[in-house]
Amino acid sequence: MDDLIAALAEALGEANVLVSQQDQAPFLTDWLGKYRGAARAVLRPGSTAEVAAAMRICARHEVPVVPQGGNTSMSGGATPDMSGRAVVLSLIRLNSIRSIDIVGNTITVDAGIVLAKVQQAAQEVGRFFPLSLGAEGSCTIGGNLAANAGGVAVLRYGTMRELTLGLEVVLADGRIWDGLTALRKDNTGYALRDLFIGSEGTLGIITGAVLKLFARPHARASAFVAVQDAAAALALLSAIRDHCGDRLTAFEFMTGECLALILRHIGDARLPLAIMPPAAVLIELSDQDDEPGLRERLEAALADSIETGLVHDAAIAQDGTQARAFWRIREGVSEALVREGKAAKHDVSMPVSAMADFVAAADVAVRAVAPGVRPIVFGHLGDGNLHYNLLPAEAQDAAAFAALAPALTRIVHDEIGRRRGSISAEHGIGQLRVAEMPLRKAPLELELMHQLKHLLDPAGLLNPGKLLPGKLLPASTPN
Ligand code: FAD
Ligand code: MLT
Ligand code: ZN
Repeated sequence: MDDLIAALAEALGEANVLVSQQDQAPFLTDWLGKYRGAARAVLRPGSTAEVAAAMRICARHEVPVVPQGGNTSMSGGATPDMSGRAVVLSLIRLNSIRSIDIVGNTITVDAGIVLAKVQQAAQEVGRFFPLSLGAEGSCTIGGNLAANAGGVAVLRYGTMRELTLGLEVVLADGRIWDGLTALRKDNTGYALRDLFIGSEGTLGIITGAVLKLFARPHARASAFVAVQDAAAALALLSAIRDHCGDRLTAFEFMTGECLALILRHIGDARLPLAIMPPAAVLIELSDQDDEPGLRERLEAALADSIETGLVHDAAIAQDGTQARAFWRIREGVSEALVREGKAAKHDVSMPVSAMADFVAAADVAVRAVAPGVRPIVFGHLGDGNLHYNLLPAEAQDAAAFAALAPALTRIVHDEIGRRRGSISAEHGIGQLRVAEMPLRKAPLELELMHQLKHLLDPAGLLNPGKLLPGKLLPASTPN
């Protein structure tokens, strides 16, 4: 056993330092099956102190560390490279709920706890933790924080950044920053917490968090609605907001091609409409109580939109089972895309009003370069966030399409650039989009990010190759 492994085994216990290929395998491939890595070891510390000890040992041995939570990243953020130099540091054994304060409406958790467990714990005390995404059964709070996760309730509750009050972070040198405050106001210096949220494991390892809790909504109303296209969906978004205000909790758009793909691959997904629509929106309202009243409000809003021709057809869930059947369609999209084959995935955001125009322009632009390419478009329309995925033309050779993908991504991101949008709304940069960063971020932004990275991780050990492109030379200071 070499010195590094011996020191780590002493700090974490031999059983928590995985060195065999078999033991390591689940940690070395991403959820999409797009990236495969190699690791010197996979570490499974059981406490913040053990994470700190592991970081000190790795720093001493100058060994890169790839933090990992649920390994559901859609940008290859938690997968090491193939050099075998890095260790993967998995937080999954840090999975406790540390405390719940129902007066202060906060929950303090370990970073490795699975999101669904936090949702459940909140529910058990009559509260609500609103972050909700298709991977909630396996993604962790640490990964949600490091990737600043969004999901389907951002429209009403915000991203993980807005849901977080305090953090505990182990720095690259093993020091522990205890920022686990439950304060809703604290103006004592720079927002260190917000620096780590969205840093994708490149600035520190999040080991704990204080999260906000909300009043539990006891009334929900859901509808699956047929519309013509993204432009109609945007007009419907305004109409629903006019009728329902902040009760609007989710507004999930999908094109007809996306819907057809889901129905083709997801056996228990059923179309709740008479005919396949050109596009569809899943709408959810929620409120404290009075579910019948909420449903009536939704029905009235939709009746008006049917009147004006904005809505072609609508199914309103009469109970929770029907509502869950609507969500089964929406949440099946990622699985359906994986089953259909390797898509060129784009997770873009832009001003909400620019989305319809973006879809139209991007569709034309990608088809000009790749005739027959199939845009599969869905996403969180209310947040200005679309998942603009491209599938090869029917029967096109996967390798030929893969060779085209960088050019298609360039086209999609150019269309985003023209609309002052972002090339990553919620999935992060990871390794998937790191090459795009010099094209999409201003030199000053990249310089500042590199300086922050150099300050917090001068040896560049934390998650190398992710988020930030290769080292920028230190900027020459203006004389
Ligand atoms: P991992 O995948 O393990 O890691 C993600 C990143 O965070 C990596 O860079 C990793 O190094 C870093 N990291 C992990 N834990 C820590 C830590 N404790 N400290 C520091 N860095 C850490 N994302 C959305 O935003 N919205 C969605 O709607 C959404 N839907 C999804 C649906 C499916 C089916 C799948 C598979 C994924 C989806 N995702 C979505 C992407 C993914 O689930 C999120 O990015 C999630 O937050 C990742 O959490 P994780 O614990 O799996 O992190
Ligand atoms: C979603 O909104 O379903 C996720 O972001 C996953 C995806 O884009 O595939
Ligand atoms: Zn999403």
